[in-house]
Amino acid sequence: MNEVWLNGQFVPADAARVSVFDRGFLLGDGVYEIVPVYSRNPFRLDEHLARLQHSLDGIRLANPHGLDVWRRALLELAARQDFADQSLLIQVTRGVPLPGQPLRDHAFPRGGAPTVLAFAQPLVPPTDAQKATGVCAITAPDPRWQRCDLKVISLMANVLMRQQAVAVECAETVFLRDGLLTEGAASNIFVVREGSLCTPAPSTHMLTGITYDVVLELAARHGIPARVSEVTEAELRSADEVWMTSSTKEIMPVVMLDDVPVGSGEPGPVARQMDALYQQFKQDVMRG
Ligand code: PDD
Repeated sequence: MNEVWLNGQFVPADAARVSVFDRGFLLGDGVYEIVPVYSRNPFRLDEHLARLQHSLDGIRLANPHGLDVWRRALLELAARQDFADQSLLIQVTRGVPLPGQPLRDHAFPRGGAPTVLAFAQPLVPPTDAQKATGVCAITAPDPRWQRCDLKVISLMANVLMRQQAVAVECAETVFLRDGLLTEGAASNIFVVREGSLCTPAPSTHMLTGITYDVVLELAARHGIPARVSEVTEAELRSADEVWMTSSTKEIMPVVMLDDVPVGSGEPGPVARQMDALYQQFKQDVMRG
């Protein structure tokens, strides 16, 4: 039985327990991270921990651990699993109110400790065949709040919008806000126009993906032109290539958008080039 890390202890997954009064459960009051782990090495761990800090600051919850404790615990968690490639989830909620306080109140309880959970699942990165085929996506008005830069566990809009895509056998819903591309329900979106990458600049309307940052770094390093600024709906719909990126989907070409072929209707050359650079980069980083 694989173990999870719960409130500072390693416990077997089927013995891990959280109170029904936890504010994560009752109010969706918490934040999370998903870290890909290759051969038991967490990828870009410090960047994920920095984004966790940003999310905690955004919900005004003190970080329960320093960087060293996080690093040590997560490396040990990864080492304890019986599979080498992992998708590691970290979740911190505002915990359970102390006795004498309402069991459920929107306002923060006084005192009390956060609930801290981390667990790993086998990572299933896209296969070469999936990358060669690409996926289809739909668009929808972005129904979310104004702090999409925080990786919060209250994911109702993202859940419903991803399901809307899955219901029509698509992989993702791409969000538009005021005529501009923001991101996907659980991914960032890049478009390619005349050989140049275009993607929205980080803002409170999107999560700054760790994969997004890696893609932009690789583009800069390998001379692929990139424009980080507003992407209009018209630019999205007339793009030569559209990709979704995330820690688990990596660089996934979108070949149909709202039933209309993207560019040639097949994964494009820039997606192939970036995927090759990304795979090489992962290997180099993991080799140290
Ligand atoms: N989601 N935007 C949103 C809304 C996301 O949920 C994600 C990732 C991303 C990409 O971030 P990154 O490159 O750091 O994975 C962008 C994860 C995988 C999830 O919630 O499952």
